[in-house]
Amino acid sequence: VSLRAYNTFGIDAKARLFATFTSVEELRALLRQPEVQAAPKLVLGGGSNLLFTQDFDGVVLKNEIRGLDLLPDGPADDTVLVRAGAGESWHGLVEYALSQNLAGLENLSLIPGTVGAAPLQNIGAYGVELQDAFEFLEAVEISTGELRRFSREECGFGYRESVFKGPLRNQYIVTGVVMRLHRQRQPANTSYGAIRSTLEEMGVTEEPTPQQVSQAVISIRRSKLPDPAQVGNAGSFFKNPEVSQAKFDALKAQYPELPGYPVPGGVKVPAGWLIEQCGWKGHRAGEGGRYGVHDRQALVLVNHGGATGAEVRALAEEIIASVREKFGIELHPEVNIL
Ligand code: EPU
Repeated sequence: VSLRAYNTFGIDAKARLFATFTSVEELRALLRQPEVQAAPKLVLGGGSNLLFTQDFDGVVLKNEIRGLDLLPDGPADDTVLVRAGAGESWHGLVEYALSQNLAGLENLSLIPGTVGAAPLQNIGAYGVELQDAFEFLEAVEISTGELRRFSREECGFGYRESVFKGPLRNQYIVTGVVMRLHRQRQPANTSYGAIRSTLEEMGVTEEPTPQQVSQAVISIRRSKLPDPAQVGNAGSFFKNPEVSQAKFDALKAQYPELPGYPVPGGVKVPAGWLIEQCGWKGHRAGEGGRYGVHDRQALVLVNHGGATGAEVRALAEEIIASVREKFGIELHPEVNIL
Protein backbone atom coordinates (compact mmCIF):
# COMPACT_ATOMS: atom_id res chain seq x y z
CA VAL A 1 0.00 0.00 0.00
CA SER A 2 1.40 3.40 -0.94
CA LEU A 3 1.62 5.78 2.01
CA ARG A 4 2.00 8.84 -0.16
CA ALA A 5 -1.46 10.20 0.62
CA TYR A 6 -0.92 9.50 4.32
CA ASN A 7 2.12 11.68 5.01
CA THR A 8 2.21 15.43 4.52
CA PHE A 9 5.77 15.27 3.18
CA GLY A 10 4.25 13.39 0.22
CA ILE A 11 6.90 10.66 0.32
CA ASP A 12 6.01 7.61 -1.76
CA ALA A 13 6.89 4.89 0.77
CA LYS A 14 4.97 1.64 1.02
CA ALA A 15 3.57 -0.37 3.92
CA ARG A 16 3.21 -4.17 3.88
CA LEU A 17 -0.18 -4.00 5.61
CA PHE A 18 -2.62 -1.18 6.19
CA ALA A 19 -5.75 -1.06 8.32
CA THR A 20 -8.02 1.62 9.72
CA PHE A 21 -10.07 1.66 12.93
CA THR A 22 -12.96 3.88 13.95
CA SER A 23 -13.50 2.77 17.55
CA VAL A 24 -11.69 1.31 20.53
CA GLU A 25 -13.45 -2.00 19.86
CA GLU A 26 -12.24 -2.12 16.24
CA LEU A 27 -8.73 -1.29 17.39
CA ARG A 28 -8.79 -4.09 19.95
CA ALA A 29 -10.06 -6.56 17.34
CA LEU A 30 -7.19 -5.55 15.04
CA LEU A 31 -4.64 -5.96 17.82
CA ARG A 32 -5.92 -9.49 18.46
CA GLN A 33 -5.23 -10.60 14.87
CA PRO A 34 -2.13 -12.82 14.79
CA GLU A 35 -0.84 -11.11 11.64
CA VAL A 36 -1.05 -7.73 13.31
CA GLN A 37 0.39 -9.02 16.57
CA ALA A 38 3.46 -10.39 14.83
CA ALA A 39 4.17 -7.31 12.72
CA PRO A 40 5.89 -4.04 13.65
CA LYS A 41 3.14 -1.44 14.05
CA LEU A 42 2.98 2.21 13.10
CA VAL A 43 -0.01 4.26 14.19
CA LEU A 44 -0.82 7.07 11.81
CA GLY A 45 -2.82 10.16 12.52
CA GLY A 46 -2.45 12.91 9.95
CA GLY A 47 1.10 11.83 9.05
CA SER A 48 2.18 15.43 9.52
CA ASN A 49 5.23 14.89 11.68
CA LEU A 50 7.06 12.06 10.02
CA LEU A 51 9.51 11.35 7.25
CA PHE A 52 9.60 7.92 5.63
CA THR A 53 13.11 7.08 4.47
CA GLN A 54 12.23 3.51 3.49
CA ASP A 55 9.24 1.23 3.04
CA PHE A 56 7.57 0.07 6.24
CA ASP A 57 7.70 -3.70 6.62
CA GLY A 58 4.84 -3.91 9.04
CA VAL A 59 1.27 -2.81 9.59
CA VAL A 60 0.17 0.79 9.46
CA LEU A 61 -2.84 1.40 11.70
CA LYS A 62 -4.70 4.54 10.74
CA ASN A 63 -6.64 6.10 13.57
CA GLU A 64 -10.09 7.24 12.41
CA ILE A 65 -11.87 7.48 15.76
CA ARG A 66 -14.14 10.50 15.47
CA GLY A 67 -16.26 12.55 17.83
CA LEU A 68 -16.31 16.05 19.34
CA ASP A 69 -18.38 16.47 22.50
CA LEU A 70 -18.76 18.61 25.56
CA LEU A 71 -18.61 16.34 28.58
CA PRO A 72 -21.61 16.61 30.88
CA ASP A 73 -20.99 16.82 34.65
CA GLY A 74 -18.10 19.17 34.00
CA PRO A 75 -16.22 21.09 36.63
CA ALA A 76 -18.17 23.59 38.73
CA ASP A 77 -15.97 26.54 37.75
CA ASP A 78 -16.10 28.33 34.42
CA THR A 79 -14.27 25.56 32.61
CA VAL A 80 -15.70 22.89 30.32
CA LEU A 81 -14.26 19.53 29.38
CA VAL A 82 -14.24 18.80 25.66
CA ARG A 83 -13.59 15.29 24.43
CA ALA A 84 -12.22 14.66 20.94
CA GLY A 85 -11.72 11.35 19.19
CA ALA A 86 -8.06 10.81 18.35
CA GLY A 87 -8.77 10.66 14.62
CA GLU A 88 -10.35 14.12 14.46
CA SER A 89 -8.24 16.81 12.85
CA TRP A 90 -6.59 19.08 15.40
CA HIS A 91 -7.79 22.22 13.68
CA GLY A 92 -11.30 20.74 13.58
CA LEU A 93 -11.18 20.60 17.37
CA VAL A 94 -9.97 24.21 17.53
CA GLU A 95 -12.85 25.30 15.26
CA TYR A 96 -15.34 23.32 17.33
CA ALA A 97 -14.11 25.05 20.50
CA LEU A 98 -14.42 28.47 18.85
CA SER A 99 -17.92 27.65 17.60
CA GLN A 100 -18.89 26.91 21.22
CA ASN A 101 -17.24 30.17 22.35
CA LEU A 102 -14.68 28.25 24.36
CA ALA A 103 -11.25 29.76 24.89
CA GLY A 104 -7.89 28.03 25.23
CA LEU A 105 -6.97 26.54 21.85
CA GLU A 106 -7.03 29.63 19.61
CA ASN A 107 -3.21 30.06 19.55
CA LEU A 108 -2.95 26.48 18.28
CA SER A 109 -5.06 27.15 15.18
CA LEU A 110 -4.22 25.53 11.85
CA ILE A 111 -1.61 23.08 13.15
CA PRO A 112 -1.73 20.11 10.76
CA GLY A 113 -2.36 16.63 12.10
CA THR A 114 -4.80 14.81 14.33
CA VAL A 115 -5.95 15.15 17.92
CA GLY A 116 -4.39 11.81 18.84
CA ALA A 117 -0.93 12.78 17.63
CA ALA A 118 -0.99 16.19 19.33
CA PRO A 119 -0.10 15.02 22.88
CA LEU A 120 2.73 12.76 21.68
CA GLN A 121 4.83 15.81 20.94
CA ASN A 122 2.95 18.34 23.06
CA ILE A 123 2.29 20.54 20.03
CA GLY A 124 2.90 24.23 20.56
CA ALA A 125 2.81 27.54 18.78
CA TYR A 126 2.59 31.28 19.46
CA GLY A 127 3.12 31.10 23.20
CA VAL A 128 0.82 28.15 23.99
CA GLU A 129 1.37 24.41 24.25
CA LEU A 130 -1.17 21.60 24.24
CA GLN A 131 -0.34 20.84 27.89
CA ASP A 132 -1.71 24.26 28.94
CA ALA A 133 -5.28 23.12 28.21
CA PHE A 134 -4.86 19.37 28.60
CA GLU A 135 -6.98 17.40 31.07
CA PHE A 136 -6.42 13.71 30.28
CA LEU A 137 -6.19 11.22 27.44
CA GLU A 138 -7.29 7.68 26.90
CA ALA A 139 -5.05 5.13 25.24
CA VAL A 140 -5.12 1.43 24.47
CA GLU A 141 -2.16 -0.61 25.60
CA ILE A 142 -0.90 -2.52 22.55
CA SER A 143 0.21 -5.63 24.45
CA THR A 144 -3.03 -6.10 26.45
CA GLY A 145 -5.74 -4.14 24.62
CA GLU A 146 -6.60 -2.42 27.89
CA LEU A 147 -7.91 1.12 27.87
CA ARG A 148 -6.05 3.39 30.25
CA ARG A 149 -6.37 7.01 31.28
CA PHE A 150 -3.32 9.29 31.52
CA SER A 151 -3.45 12.53 33.50
CA ARG A 152 -1.37 15.52 32.48
CA GLU A 153 1.30 14.59 35.03
CA GLU A 154 1.43 11.03 33.73
CA CYS A 155 1.99 12.27 30.18
CA GLY A 156 5.32 13.83 31.18
CA PHE A 157 5.03 16.76 28.81
CA GLY A 158 8.06 18.80 27.81
CA TYR A 159 9.09 20.88 24.80
CA ARG A 160 7.81 18.77 21.89
CA GLU A 161 8.07 15.78 24.24
CA SER A 162 5.94 13.34 26.20
CA VAL A 163 6.25 9.97 27.85
CA PHE A 164 4.85 8.48 24.61
CA LYS A 165 7.98 9.56 22.72
CA GLY A 166 10.20 8.37 25.59
CA PRO A 167 9.75 5.44 28.00
CA LEU A 168 6.31 4.44 26.68
CA ARG A 169 7.19 4.75 23.01
CA ASN A 170 5.20 2.32 20.81
CA GLN A 171 3.33 0.91 23.80
CA TYR A 172 0.04 2.83 23.70
CA ILE A 173 -2.36 4.04 21.03
CA VAL A 174 -4.15 7.25 21.93
CA THR A 175 -7.89 6.92 21.32
CA GLY A 176 -9.31 10.11 22.82
CA VAL A 177 -8.18 13.39 24.34
CA VAL A 178 -10.02 15.62 26.81
CA MET A 179 -9.18 19.32 26.99
CA ARG A 180 -10.27 21.81 29.67
CA LEU A 181 -11.48 25.01 28.02
CA HIS A 182 -12.85 28.29 29.35
CA ARG A 183 -16.41 29.55 28.95
CA GLN A 184 -15.54 33.04 30.08
CA ARG A 185 -13.22 34.98 27.92
CA GLN A 186 -9.68 34.80 29.29
CA PRO A 187 -7.02 37.45 28.74
CA ALA A 188 -5.66 36.47 25.34
CA ASN A 189 -2.12 35.12 25.17
CA THR A 190 -0.46 37.68 22.92
CA SER A 191 3.05 37.08 24.23
CA TYR A 192 4.16 36.38 20.66
CA GLY A 193 4.81 39.81 19.15
CA ALA A 194 3.45 39.04 15.69
CA ILE A 195 0.03 38.25 17.21
CA ARG A 196 -0.17 41.75 18.65
CA SER A 197 0.93 43.43 15.43
CA THR A 198 -1.42 41.30 13.32
CA LEU A 199 -4.36 42.13 15.60
CA GLU A 200 -3.48 45.79 15.22
CA GLU A 201 -3.46 45.42 11.44
CA MET A 202 -6.87 43.77 11.76
CA GLY A 203 -8.06 46.89 13.57
CA VAL A 204 -8.60 45.11 16.89
CA THR A 205 -7.94 47.65 19.61
CA GLU A 206 -9.73 46.10 22.60
CA GLU A 207 -9.07 42.78 24.31
CA PRO A 208 -9.33 40.33 21.38
CA THR A 209 -11.84 37.48 21.28
CA PRO A 210 -10.55 33.92 20.85
CA GLN A 211 -11.90 34.05 17.30
CA GLN A 212 -9.80 37.14 16.54
CA VAL A 213 -6.66 35.56 18.01
CA SER A 214 -7.34 32.49 15.88
CA GLN A 215 -7.64 34.65 12.76
CA ALA A 216 -4.36 36.39 13.59
CA VAL A 217 -2.58 33.06 14.10
CA ILE A 218 -3.99 31.71 10.85
CA SER A 219 -2.76 34.72 8.93
CA ILE A 220 0.73 34.50 10.50
CA ARG A 221 0.96 30.78 9.74
CA ARG A 222 -0.18 31.28 6.14
CA SER A 223 2.46 33.96 5.62
CA LYS A 224 5.39 31.85 6.91
CA LEU A 225 4.57 28.18 6.71
CA PRO A 226 3.95 26.19 3.54
CA ASP A 227 0.51 24.57 3.23
CA PRO A 228 1.10 20.80 3.16
CA ALA A 229 -1.78 20.48 0.69
CA GLN A 230 0.39 22.42 -1.79
CA VAL A 231 4.00 21.73 -0.81
CA GLY A 232 5.12 18.59 1.00
CA ASN A 233 6.46 19.37 4.48
CA ALA A 234 6.14 18.39 8.14
CA GLY A 235 6.38 21.81 9.81
CA SER A 236 9.51 22.51 11.80
CA PHE A 237 12.00 19.84 10.86
CA PHE A 238 14.27 20.58 13.85
CA LYS A 239 13.69 21.52 17.47
CA ASN A 240 14.98 24.83 18.71
CA PRO A 241 18.19 23.95 20.59
CA GLU A 242 19.03 25.03 24.12
CA VAL A 243 22.49 26.30 24.98
CA SER A 244 24.07 27.37 28.26
CA GLN A 245 24.08 31.06 29.16
CA ALA A 246 27.89 31.11 28.80
CA LYS A 247 27.72 29.60 25.32
CA PHE A 248 24.98 32.04 24.36
CA ASP A 249 26.99 35.04 25.61
CA ALA A 250 30.03 33.93 23.64
CA LEU A 251 28.00 33.51 20.44
CA LYS A 252 26.19 36.80 21.00
CA ALA A 253 29.54 38.61 21.17
CA GLN A 254 30.35 37.18 17.76
CA TYR A 255 26.82 37.45 16.29
CA PRO A 256 25.07 40.43 17.93
CA GLU A 257 21.83 39.69 16.04
CA LEU A 258 21.50 36.19 17.52
CA PRO A 259 17.99 35.85 18.99
CA GLY A 260 17.46 33.85 22.20
CA TYR A 261 14.78 33.18 24.80
CA PRO A 262 15.68 32.40 28.41
CA VAL A 263 14.57 28.96 29.61
CA PRO A 264 15.35 27.21 32.89
CA GLY A 265 19.02 26.27 32.70
CA GLY A 266 19.98 28.22 29.62
CA VAL A 267 18.82 29.96 26.47
CA LYS A 268 16.71 28.62 23.63
CA VAL A 269 17.98 29.66 20.23
CA PRO A 270 15.79 29.59 17.09
CA ALA A 271 17.11 26.90 14.77
CA GLY A 272 15.56 28.78 11.84
CA TRP A 273 17.92 31.69 12.44
CA LEU A 274 20.99 29.45 12.67
CA ILE A 275 20.01 27.61 9.47
CA GLU A 276 19.35 30.85 7.62
CA GLN A 277 22.78 32.20 8.70
CA CYS A 278 24.36 29.11 7.17
CA GLY A 279 22.84 30.14 3.85
CA TRP A 280 20.20 27.44 3.54
CA LYS A 281 17.01 29.47 3.36
CA GLY A 282 15.31 28.84 0.00
CA HIS A 283 17.97 26.27 -0.93
CA ARG A 284 16.89 23.75 -3.56
CA ALA A 285 18.41 20.34 -4.21
CA GLY A 286 17.81 17.36 -6.43
CA GLU A 287 16.79 17.16 -10.06
CA GLY A 288 14.83 20.29 -10.95
CA GLY A 289 15.20 21.46 -7.34
CA ARG A 290 12.51 19.09 -6.16
CA TYR A 291 13.25 19.42 -2.46
CA GLY A 292 14.94 21.88 -0.16
CA VAL A 293 14.50 24.51 2.54
CA HIS A 294 11.40 26.69 2.66
CA ASP A 295 12.07 30.25 1.46
CA ARG A 296 10.12 31.95 4.25
CA GLN A 297 11.02 29.76 7.26
CA ALA A 298 14.37 28.00 7.22
CA LEU A 299 13.25 25.55 9.91
CA VAL A 300 10.95 23.83 7.41
CA LEU A 301 12.21 21.34 4.83
CA VAL A 302 10.03 20.94 1.76
CA ASN A 303 9.33 18.37 -0.94
CA HIS A 304 8.28 20.22 -4.08
CA GLY A 305 7.40 16.86 -5.60
CA GLY A 306 9.10 13.53 -6.16
CA ALA A 307 11.80 13.67 -3.49
CA THR A 308 12.63 10.53 -1.53
CA GLY A 309 12.77 10.50 2.24
CA ALA A 310 16.41 9.50 2.10
CA GLU A 311 17.19 12.63 0.06
CA VAL A 312 15.42 14.85 2.58
CA ARG A 313 17.23 13.12 5.44
CA ALA A 314 20.59 13.63 3.72
CA LEU A 315 19.81 17.33 3.35
CA ALA A 316 18.89 17.49 7.05
CA GLU A 317 22.24 15.91 7.89
CA GLU A 318 24.10 18.48 5.79
CA ILE A 319 22.24 21.26 7.58
CA ILE A 320 23.05 19.77 10.99
CA ALA A 321 26.74 19.55 10.03
CA SER A 322 26.90 23.13 8.80
CA VAL A 323 25.21 24.54 11.93
CA ARG A 324 27.58 22.47 14.08
CA GLU A 325 30.57 23.81 12.19
CA LYS A 326 29.55 27.47 12.22
CA PHE A 327 27.99 27.75 15.68
CA GLY A 328 29.07 24.64 17.59
CA ILE A 329 25.39 23.83 18.19
CA GLU A 330 23.86 20.42 17.60
CA LEU A 331 20.40 20.44 15.99
CA HIS A 332 18.01 17.57 16.62
CA PRO A 333 15.13 16.59 14.34
CA GLU A 334 11.65 17.36 15.62
CA VAL A 335 10.14 15.19 12.89
CA ASN A 336 9.91 11.45 13.46
CA ILE A 337 12.30 9.86 10.94
CA LEU A 338 11.37 6.28 9.98
N1 EPU B 1 14.07 33.01 12.08
C1 EPU B 1 15.00 33.41 11.14
N2 EPU B 1 15.00 32.80 9.92
C2 EPU B 1 14.12 31.82 9.61
C3 EPU B 1 13.18 31.40 10.58
C4 EPU B 1 13.18 32.04 11.80
O1 EPU B 1 15.81 34.29 11.38
O2 EPU B 1 14.18 31.31 8.50
C5 EPU B 1 14.03 33.71 13.37
C6 EPU B 1 12.84 34.65 13.43
O3 EPU B 1 13.13 35.89 12.92
C7 EPU B 1 12.55 34.72 14.90
C8 EPU B 1 12.94 33.36 15.38
O4 EPU B 1 13.79 32.79 14.40
O5 EPU B 1 13.40 35.64 15.54
C9 EPU B 1 11.76 32.47 15.67
O6 EPU B 1 11.02 32.22 14.48
P1 EPU B 1 9.46 31.83 14.50
O7 EPU B 1 8.74 32.76 15.38
O8 EPU B 1 9.01 31.71 13.10
O9 EPU B 1 9.37 30.46 15.24
P2 EPU B 1 10.33 29.19 15.33
O10 EPU B 1 11.06 29.25 16.62
O11 EPU B 1 11.14 29.10 14.09
C10 EPU B 1 8.59 27.72 16.60
C11 EPU B 1 7.93 26.38 16.47
C12 EPU B 1 6.83 26.42 15.42
C13 EPU B 1 5.82 27.47 15.84
C14 EPU B 1 6.52 28.80 15.98
C15 EPU B 1 5.60 29.88 16.51
C16 EPU B 1 9.61 24.73 17.07
C17 EPU B 1 10.49 23.64 16.59
N3 EPU B 1 8.91 25.37 16.12
O12 EPU B 1 9.25 28.00 15.37
O13 EPU B 1 6.20 25.16 15.41
O14 EPU B 1 4.77 27.56 14.89
O15 EPU B 1 7.61 28.69 16.93
O16 EPU B 1 5.34 29.66 17.87
O17 EPU B 1 9.56 24.99 18.27
C18 EPU B 1 6.27 23.01 14.36
O18 EPU B 1 6.59 22.56 15.46
O19 EPU B 1 6.12 22.26 13.37
C19 EPU B 1 6.09 24.44 14.22
C20 EPU B 1 5.82 25.01 13.04
